[in-house]
Amino acid sequence: MSDRHREDPWAISEDGYPARDGARERLRFLAGYAVLAPSVQNTQPWRFRLAGERLELAADRTRALPVSDPDDRELVLSCGAALFHLRLALRRCGPAGEVVLGPDPAAPDLLARVGRGAAADPTPEELAEFAAIPQRRTHRGRLAARPVPTGILTELQVLATEEGAWLHLAEAEPERAALAALIQEADRAQAGDPRFRRELLAWVHERRRATGDGLPDHAPEVRGPAIEEGPLVVRTFDRGDGQAARGGQLAEGSPVLAVLGTSNDTPRAWLEAGQALGRMLLRAQSLGLYASYLNQPVEVPDTRARLPELLGREGHPQLVLRFGYGEAPPPTPRRPLAEVFD
Ligand SMILES: Cc1cc2nc3c(=O)[nH]c(=O)nc-3n(C[C@H](O)[C@H](O)[C@H](O)COP(=O)(O)O)c2cc1C
Repeated sequence: MSDRHREDPWAISEDGYPARDGARERLRFLAGYAVLAPSVQNTQPWRFRLAGERLELAADRTRALPVSDPDDRELVLSCGAALFHLRLALRRCGPAGEVVLGPDPAAPDLLARVGRGAAADPTPEELAEFAAIPQRRTHRGRLAARPVPTGILTELQVLATEEGAWLHLAEAEPERAALAALIQEADRAQAGDPRFRRELLAWVHERRRATGDGLPDHAPEVRGPAIEEGPLVVRTFDRGDGQAARGGQLAEGSPVLAVLGTSNDTPRAWLEAGQALGRMLLRAQSLGLYASYLNQPVEVPDTRARLPELLGREGHPQLVLRFGYGEAPPPTPRRPLAEVFD
């Protein structure tokens, strides 16, 4: 590990890969790519443990969001994204990894075990996705009106399917408007719940600068009554003047609106959806495309139940995403690797 990487988790470079060291040192290094994954409110709800020559990934439920995510669904999704980063890093740097997926009813927190697998050369797409890990960012800013080529969107849909999920594109105008209205409805329901506001404030807080998690840069937006009427771009996105998008702006400011979903609604399905998310975001980033989230309707039970009918498809919506082109935003904090290892 270089000194720069020791100070800044985003400064990881494959040049630092300890190829001559034992499997445990190598796996520990590769976990440095996993922690750069996106996670709900940047809670980084994962733990790693070396067990022999394998690395175990577990859910850290002490970082749960009991109000907005009572079943730990988004928590497990976040771990799935970290697992995809790890799988990709293993393909790039080590012999491709063997992955044993959990969770197991006897060990509900143990989500996956990865170890050495048969060697296989990474594809050019995988190399590009790997290179995109330190560049990937959630983009809550204004996105360019420039359309996203259909070929890229189809590619993202294929990747989601390969990981066991589906990506529905809300393309037709009535559907986009209906989805934007549902986002707005769920957003109001959440903003009106003091328990939700309190939970959000705990993670979008200045003090998070010292803990290496959460969203300290967005803290000025959520002080006092601002959480109901003010900017709060952390829950939607900046419409261009520091104010959060509302109503019709939700659809207008989202060149692509999409819903990631699964056939089942089990912890295994959430883990798969998380891997699909990790993979799609890295492919998107490798093509210069950014994403952000509009998850309110999947966090409020009533709107989540109405979403399949609105989309005209069966299954369980897991995340609402927007995609588009824009300028790179600054990175969010990460905890040092030592803090996430048992
Ligand atoms: C499962 C999941 C749910 C998320 N939900 C939201 C959300 O509703 N609104 C939002 O602005 N960002 C959301 N995010 C993005 C996180 O806030 C973001 O990943 C985190 O702050 C780390 O920043 P980064 O993605 O730029 O590394 C979500 C991420 C994940 C993985």
